[in-house]
Amino acid sequence: MEYPVSANARYTGLIQHYGDRLPIEDPASAVCLGEGRTPLIRTYNLPRRLGFEGEIYLKFEGVNPTGSFKDRGMTVAVTKAFDEGARAVVCASTGNTAASAAAYAARAGMQAFVIIPEGKIALGKLSQAMMHGAKVIQLRGNFDEAMAIVRVLVRDLPITLVNSINPNRLQGQKTAAFEVVEDLGRAPDYHAIPVGNAGNITAYWMGYKEYGYEGWCAPPVMVGFQSTGSAPIVEGRHIDQPDTVATAIRIGHPASWEGALDVQKESRGWFDAVTDEDILQAQRLLASTDGVFCEPASAASVAGIVSEIQAGHIPQGSNVVCTLTGHGLKDPDTAIRQSEQPFTVDATEAAVEEVIQGFL
Ligand code: F0G
Repeated sequence: MEYPVSANARYTGLIQHYGDRLPIEDPASAVCLGEGRTPLIRTYNLPRRLGFEGEIYLKFEGVNPTGSFKDRGMTVAVTKAFDEGARAVVCASTGNTAASAAAYAARAGMQAFVIIPEGKIALGKLSQAMMHGAKVIQLRGNFDEAMAIVRVLVRDLPITLVNSINPNRLQGQKTAAFEVVEDLGRAPDYHAIPVGNAGNITAYWMGYKEYGYEGWCAPPVMVGFQSTGSAPIVEGRHIDQPDTVATAIRIGHPASWEGALDVQKESRGWFDAVTDEDILQAQRLLASTDGVFCEPASAASVAGIVSEIQAGHIPQGSNVVCTLTGHGLKDPDTAIRQSEQPFTVDATEAAVEEVIQGFL
């Protein structure tokens, strides 16, 4: 008897899937964990709540192997580093890059060094970097200071830098745009993304342009959202003491600033800022009404789209995609802090029923 073979059995990761579009000579040698092919989830309750007669989709990158979009770039960057004979990788990180670098380095048998701002990375991300065997160096400083240090460090040491200034990272990340076009059968009218270093928005735009040149889509208008406490691109100046509950995008000196401005110009898009309160509200709204749990930074894209729709900047009938960059489980502290707390009762049926009756 022959068993049916699902497509999953043959899918190893996005290097094999998009091999001819990535700078990898031998896709069979890829360091991969089955990243990519993330769902594009249509929301129903969100547009209804907003009175929006268009379509809002969530590109949920939280279901990548380490729980964020970073895996798309990391599979390419670590495969390249391995092929070039590197034995170690390093990154500065607000957490997700660290978790991803640690996992892919572990798989390749390489050492990862991750430099993070002490006390400002979400618990889930720290636990990942530690479990995957990275050497974790906590800085008494912020992400921008960590980034400045690693840029100089790699000039003198035999270590490959795997931050998004490594062009292989953006090559991998552009594949998310391919998937959106393949799922929708077109590009959306608007694509909203949370912005920290602006690497990801630059990568999506590369992807949309690549498919655009080949006639697969007309590229979308790109809209990037920062948090008001760390909105250097929106304010047009470096922020030396950035602050936001969305620690993933607590960045005041974005590494891909130029790229961001090109995206804005070429796509006729814009950047705007959303408050921490709006970010948390959007995170709760998505989790509690549409069943999708993303981390705070990711919710910036939805908070932004909500405010743009309310301000009339996104016309009725538009087709919108918001990228949710990381999973909500990355930051359990922030989730628990803003949620209704559990009811603690005696172990009797009556006590449990009393709580339930209160809500029926
Ligand atoms: N969303 C999440 C969840 C992130 O972790 C990041 C960046 C971004 C959005 C912004 O992406 O920097 O390409 O504009 N995190 C980096 C890190 C800085 O170290 O994990 P970007």
